[in-house]
Amino acid sequence: MDYINVTIRPMTKEDLPSVMEIERLCFINPWNEEQFIYEIEENVYSNPWVVELSNTNSDNVAIVGFCVYWQTFDSATICQIAVHPEIQRRQLGSAMMDEIINDCYAKRVQTLTLEVRKSNTKAINFYLKHGFEQVTVKEKYYTDGEDAIYMTRRVDIF
Ligand SMILES: CC(C)(COP(=O)(O)OP(=O)(O)OC[C@H]1O[C@@H](n2cnc3c(N)ncnc32)[C@H](O)[C@@H]1OP(=O)(O)O)[C@@H](O)C(=O)NCCC(=O)NCCS
Repeated sequence: MDYINVTIRPMTKEDLPSVMEIERLCFINPWNEEQFIYEIEENVYSNPWVVELSNTNSDNVAIVGFCVYWQTFDSATICQIAVHPEIQRRQLGSAMMDEIINDCYAKRVQTLTLEVRKSNTKAINFYLKHGFEQVTVKEKYYTDGEDAIYMTRRVDIF
């Protein structure tokens, strides 16, 4: 398939089969479908998005990644960001991150925050590349006892 269009758009319930597959492939403690439905339908602070690839005629479309970030007043938190393992390292995660940062800037968010597993080197490198800095370590943050690295990025500085 010759993909040429990359679209980042709000997640809908129809996207959930693809989103759940990526979620299961990417995370140790995957969210369940109800959690995503809550983000789509009820959580007014949530921005759940997908990244979609399509060919010229839009007759072949695939959801290959997604992100969820919460915005409350002047700060925002990235809860989830993932790209299908077969198509990682092709700048699709970066496309979503750029969109999140632009959206935060437009909404006058000042600080973007996140937690990432200490062992998740590729995600840590990804966040460092996008201007995040390590602030602290949250010990035993995850239910399996792993520490989290807490990272932040100012949004008003590009
Ligand atoms: C983190 C993630 C979303 C990045 O998405 P991606 O589309 O693969 O990343 P990009 O292609 O945009 O990479 C941008 C930069 O991130 C860093 N990076 C990405 N993957 C990397 C890897 N495997 N090893 C080292 N650095 C990596 C690099 O600096 C890269 O820039 P470069 O390719 O010019 O060297 C993706 O790896 C993923 O889905 N991981 C599993 C889910 C996850 O861990 N999410 C984060 C939870 S906190």
